[in-house]
Amino acid sequence: MHLPVAILALGLATFITSCTSAPSSTTPIQSSPHVIHEKRAADPLDWLISHKPSADKVLPLRIGLTQQNVDQLSDMLMAVSHPDSPNYGKHWTPQQVVDMFAPKKESADKVVGWLRDFGFEKERIRMSANKGWIEVRASLEEVEELLRTEYFVYKHVETGEEQISCETYSVPADVREHIDLIKPTVHFNHRPSPKSTTKFKRSGVNLGKPGVSTVGPKKSAGAQPVPPTLADCDKMITLDCLKALYDVPDFNPVSLDTNSYGIVEFTPQAFLAGDLDLFFSNFSPSLVGVRPKTVLIDGAVVQTTNQSFDFNGESDLDLEYGMALVNPQTVTLLQTGDLVEGAGFDNWLDAVDGSFCTFEGGDDPTQDGIYPDPLPGGFKGAESCGIIAPPFVVSTSYGQDESTITAFSAMRQCTEYGKLGLMGTTILYSSGDNGVAGNGGVCLNSQGQPVDNGTMFNPDFPATCPFVTAAGATQVNPGSTVFDPEGACEQVIFSGGGFSNIFAIPDYQQTAVSSFLTNHPPPYTSAQFNNSGTSRAFPDLAANGANYVIGIDGEFELVFGTSCSSPVVGSFITMVNDARLAAGKSPVGFINPAIYSDQFSDAFNDITIGTNQGCNTVGFTATEGWDPVTGVGTPNVSKLIPLFLSLP
Ligand SMILES: *[C@@H]1O[C@H](CO)[C@@H](O)[C@H](O)[C@H]1NC(C)=O
Ligand SMILES: *[C@@H]1O[C@H](CO)[C@@H](O)[C@H](O)[C@H]1NC(C)=O
Ligand SMILES: *[C@@H]1O[C@H](CO)[C@@H](O)[C@H](O)[C@H]1NC(C)=O
Ligand SMILES: *[C@@H]1O[C@H](CO)[C@@H](O)[C@H](O)[C@H]1NC(C)=O
Repeated sequence: MHLPVAILALGLATFITSCTSAPSSTTPIQSSPHVIHEKRAADPLDWLISHKPSADKVLPLRIGLTQQNVDQLSDMLMAVSHPDSPNYGKHWTPQQVVDMFAPKKESADKVVGWLRDFGFEKERIRMSANKGWIEVRASLEEVEELLRTEYFVYKHVETGEEQISCETYSVPADVREHIDLIKPTVHFNHRPSPKSTTKFKRSGVNLGKPGVSTVGPKKSAGAQPVPPTLADCDKMITLDCLKALYDVPDFNPVSLDTNSYGIVEFTPQAFLAGDLDLFFSNFSPSLVGVRPKTVLIDGAVVQTTNQSFDFNGESDLDLEYGMALVNPQTVTLLQTGDLVEGAGFDNWLDAVDGSFCTFEGGDDPTQDGIYPDPLPGGFKGAESCGIIAPPFVVSTSYGQDESTITAFSAMRQCTEYGKLGLMGTTILYSSGDNGVAGNGGVCLNSQGQPVDNGTMFNPDFPATCPFVTAAGATQVNPGSTVFDPEGACEQVIFSGGGFSNIFAIPDYQQTAVSSFLTNHPPPYTSAQFNNSGTSRAFPDLAANGANYVIGIDGEFELVFGTSCSSPVVGSFITMVNDARLAAGKSPVGFINPAIYSDQFSDAFNDITIGTNQGCNTVGFTATEGWDPVTGVGTPNVSKLIPLFLSLP
């Protein structure tokens, strides 16, 4: 499963406002001409314009100031995470990060000057504590004139739910460079739906006693005897299968107190204690009764009222495998969002980095939960801003189509992942379950808009952010054993992969990607994907994503998805960190520059079988070297640990 964010972001609507391109004002307030700053990323498929909002409606207008030195972030990150760098592992303190990227005073002055010239009194203009945002509460009429835009109320065709939004907005040319983005404006609420919420019972396999062979030992191609616990790994994956596939050594952690591993879940997704114990009692008995260390973000609840695969599948999967693989290392559950509004990626980022928070909570009212929750019954407490230190590894098995977020919004969030890397955190995201297509199999038209008959590939975000590690999915091919090479996952789900339409290619993957495009040119044109070799390609690596046995709603079932791959890779990196911490070294932080480097190529099993179909094509093909299906391949943990340990 690769589940969506903000499943319950329903009510958000009433609060949100969207704007269309602007009738130019006749009042010559600004000497500098207005230029369009942002345009809506994708036209809403299910929302129709209903009416004009009233002119005196008050909007909490928030202006995100341009951060300094963002253009150098990539180089700074390479310096602490490339294996050849003398500064490898020398991560930054949170304060160093804040100081390096804080907006210039000049930017704040310029924006405040613009607002004052427009006529806002000084008292109405407020600056956030982190100096990143300026807020002014303004009437719709004022905002429309300020941004040369026009807002409409949109109604959802099925639910009747409403939100206000505009299509584009403009700012004076000489102010533009000082602004990242302004909210609420074009960031239309697309509320991503599940990528794949697949459960599956395979007939003929005894799921009641997983791990016990029902068909007797099998022989691999190499005639190696297959132990009974590994006989069915092509039909059901267990901890033993993963340990064999990825050569996972026995884990006897020695850095329990200093090491940390976080798993993000979005309410109402929640684990059930009984499901964890069902799984643990079969596969990891010492964990029976053990729970993750739960951190509740923005009024989150680990709800048990609603129980079904859709409510419990993701959390049960992530925690059962994550906790069992790193046992006895504690896993931190970052449970995010309240029951009413839900949450987006920016909400968990706020919780681990207070400097990321926007003014009085909430980040992008259309993508993220706004806290305190303005909706009836919502969480009224303060936004969770910097409530815990970032764990050394964070795995998130959720995503959204890149086409549903604006470039400015995606970049601001992506920059934050880069900052966390600078501070020593590994950020893992699942790469999506629809191959080259987007959520629900949707593809794009030539304008980059999601349409039912689209032919352009539709990549997944945050997987396309160059500062995260995107995990794709493999499978033990039917009839094969764990001793045979795996293929790309082609059961129930297809490994998300491809090329970003927003982000440029990072240095660390230049060689790998150009080698793929040159030596194995895909049979597609630039009308299907950005084949210039200049855009960020994903995934970065892969791990098994087919037939995971999980305890779910009181029984064992099989699940599929890059949702499986991400927490498994996260567990392996947590093992690496344990070894490094024990040796008095830092955690690994951002791993991409290392895993693409020559010296690490041995530590990955190259996947050369399978494709990631979508958009009425077979998708890309897994081949020698990096490919946009399985990245650099699956890890060999026995090799990965000493390699990372040998770095400074
Ligand atoms: C992992 O690497 C070790 C050490 O080189 C090797 O013996 C083993 O066969 C590899 N395991 C897998 C599953 O590829
Ligand atoms: C969850 O359970 C509550 C209480 O039974 C119910 O009102 C609500 O509709 C359920 N939510 C969903 C999304 O099924
Ligand atoms: C896709 O559907 C739209 C609306 O039905 C139609 O106008 C367009 O021609 C179709 N495009 C293709 C490539 O089939
Ligand atoms: C491909 O990506 C690069 C880098 O992001 C960008 O500069 C270029 O405009 C893109 N090409 C197309 C056709 O979108």
